Amino acid sequence: MSAGRRRLPLLILAVGALVVAVFLFTYNPAPVIPRDRDHVAARLPEGCLVCHGPAGRTPRPENHPISQACLSCHRWGP
Ligand code: HEC
Ligand code: HEC
Repeated sequence: MSAGRRRLPLLILAVGALVVAVFLFTYNPAPVIPRDRDHVAARLPEGCLVCHGPAGRTPRPENHPISQACLSCHRWGP
């Protein structure tokens, strides 16, 4: 067996580890929506933006996606 062939499994492992590392460093799931009184009472998405809109009490951060389909990313908490 040539030296190149013996190194192939190692190469595959290294590439696999790299893919996993990149995934873990960039995976940023949207936080869940807490089931407190404010949230359970709010109507989507207008109700949400009363507090999380630009003029609200706790605006979404500058770098937040502009989409207003909140539930396409945020799930309700347990
Ligand atoms: C009455 C004001 C108010 C309304 C209405 C409201 N929120 Fe919030 N929301 C808050 C506050 C205050 C926090 C921060 C509280 C905390 O971190 O526990 C928060 C936190 C969050 C978080 C982040 C939780 C975390 O773990 O960081 C998400 C996601 C969220 N709200 C989504 C929504 C969605 C979707 C709606 C509409 C259904 C909504 N909110 C309606 C006040 C509100
Ligand atoms: C395209 C996906 C997407 C949609 C749609 C979306 N969000 Fe988010 N949201 C995120 C992600 C991702 C984060 C985490 C951002 C971070 O950690 O920097 C986040 C974070 C938040 C937070 C927490 C901010 C903080 O200070 O920690 C709130 C509040 C929030 N979103 C509210 C909303 C509301 C309200 C809507 C609907 C009007 C909405 N989001 C729609 C992806 C989304």
